[in-house]
Amino acid sequence: MRPQNHILITAGPTREPIDPVRFISNRSSGKMGYALAAAAISRGYRVTLISGPTSLTPPQGVHFQRVETAREMYRAVLQAATGAKIVIMAAAVADYEPVRARTQKLKKRGTLTLRLRKTPDILAALGKRKSKAQLLVGFAAQTHGLIAHARQKLVSKNSDFMVANWVGRKNQGFESDDNQVTILDSRGNQISIPRMKKRLLAEKILDVVLGPFPKG
Ligand code: PMT
Repeated sequence: MRPQNHILITAGPTREPIDPVRFISNRSSGKMGYALAAAAISRGYRVTLISGPTSLTPPQGVHFQRVETAREMYRAVLQAATGAKIVIMAAAVADYEPVRARTQKLKKRGTLTLRLRKTPDILAALGKRKSKAQLLVGFAAQTHGLIAHARQKLVSKNSDFMVANWVGRKNQGFESDDNQVTILDSRGNQISIPRMKKRLLAEKILDVVLGPFPKG
């Protein structure tokens, strides 16, 4: 696979097992990441889509890899990233996992305390090892202080772009068919894209990431 042709995209949630039947996860449907994969395929890129559990059908032509946990996504992404010109982390990777996943179903009781630890930060690991030729695109999902948090993530994870989206608002972000984003880049540029269908938004995001950043 020629690196200049190859885009790696992550999508969906991860699931962190508590016991054989329960897990910690989030509301990501995968729609944003799958829309990006469809847009990249339609532009003639080779696309690897690494996805947590979703009910979506992968776009035709993508190299598809399904994973379950943040650790599985970490391994798969780091392996695939070496051959990629662009890596887009649209997945909502769980930030915490149970310290110990039980092998037997937990019995119901009055209260239950779970010990959690941080999952590996995939985007930060990619930022540490990326070459000058590779573009790293993160997503920032926040319910408050979106732009400040996104700018801070852009720097701390050594990314080239951060796509900031509000979550917890109606009809955008998690699960919705629509989204509205502000894209920040590492040179201090910022562009806002109004609410629209995720498939169309995916085209706009690729326009910004692949082309010269618009001035202003
Ligand atoms: O899937 P949909 O229903 O279409 O919803 C789309 C979306 C809201 C999930 C998507 O647009 C989005 O915002 N994805 C990123 C969600 C997220 O995890 O944001 P964050 O601010 O917690 O993380 C920042 C970045 O770090 C993200 O690129 C994330 O993939 C990455 N990350 C986070 C934790 C971790 N352990 N490893 C990571 O790489």
